[in-house]
Amino acid sequence: MTEREIMDFARGEFEWLHAHPELAYEEFETTARLRAAFEHAGIRVLDLPLATGLISAIGTGKPIVALRTDIDALPVHEETDLPYRSQYEGKMHACGHDFHMASVLAAALLLKEREAELAGMVYIVCQPAEEAPGGARTVLNTGALADVAAIFGIHARPIYSVGTLGLCTGGMMASVDKFEITFHGVGTHAAQPDRGCDPIVMAAQFVTAAQTIAARNISPLRPAVVSVTHIEAGTTWNVLPERAWMEGTIRLFDSDDRALVKERVASLAEGIAAAFGGRAEVTWTAGPPAVVNTERWNTLARETAAEEDFAVVDAVPWMAGEDFAYYQEAMETCFAFVGTGLSPENHHPKFTVDPAAIPQTAHYLACMAEEALRRLR
Ligand code: NI
Repeated sequence: MTEREIMDFARGEFEWLHAHPELAYEEFETTARLRAAFEHAGIRVLDLPLATGLISAIGTGKPIVALRTDIDALPVHEETDLPYRSQYEGKMHACGHDFHMASVLAAALLLKEREAELAGMVYIVCQPAEEAPGGARTVLNTGALADVAAIFGIHARPIYSVGTLGLCTGGMMASVDKFEITFHGVGTHAAQPDRGCDPIVMAAQFVTAAQTIAARNISPLRPAVVSVTHIEAGTTWNVLPERAWMEGTIRLFDSDDRALVKERVASLAEGIAAAFGGRAEVTWTAGPPAVVNTERWNTLARETAAEEDFAVVDAVPWMAGEDFAYYQEAMETCFAFVGTGLSPENHHPKFTVDPAAIPQTAHYLACMAEEALRRLR
């Protein structure tokens, strides 16, 4: 395929993918569409036990590097006026994963044209379920990436214009943990609070006290977020309940800070509950660690992006999480933010991506893979 044919095709696929968003682990049409595109181009698709998502391969032998795209959409009702807006009620590619797919697909087609010159093999990892933490783990658990030396990923960012690429060494995206806390008290008549033990007062004290964790336990030079996002307690106006329940999240870049904040959340909840004569139960659901770029691949990424005429900027770290971080446990990684034109933030119902960003992003990814193979030999 010519350059022009590849980019026209990728643009068409972007629009189709945007119009047909599928949620985490339900990406069946998306997977079939990607498979058809790879097979049509003569790119082999690996035979793996993945219900959704796939890995294709270009070139032969070792070393192996990988390009990663996530493929899932969000339960957001689209509010754009795009001609290719979502055809599925309440589902939307509101995080740009359609753009990631189109760019990685175009990169694969570019690499296919230069397959004979590749100094090894490139895997194209189309990963399910980035939004519901676990998709990267699902792919890693197949064992298919065991021999991959390095994997490269991107994320669409509407804070940068098209032609801008953001990179930094160190933390780019935060670690994610979810907590749930139940405050146990003693229910009573609202008119006789002295006869019970009010868990709503405990919960209220905790919400305020928890803000001191970021303000008073973590260095002001390192970002930390502690957010209570959901509270439920009581059923009516004249009864004090037995229990108050809440959930929330913590976001950090430093793994020592992460452990400290978890310890502080638990001890504040338990200490406050005990001080009021009740008891707190804290449970954690761990999400991915922070996405961290290393000097080696960050330097290659800067050089490659500059060669592709990107304006390279120092990335502003993003407190959102990204399960790309799980790949760091098994191989080397590099992550980049790609400017997709100014729009409301990722996950907003009016979030948009300017598809003009696809060709340059595809060239960046293809060149990263090619040059990484040369450097790994
Ligand atoms: Ni995303």
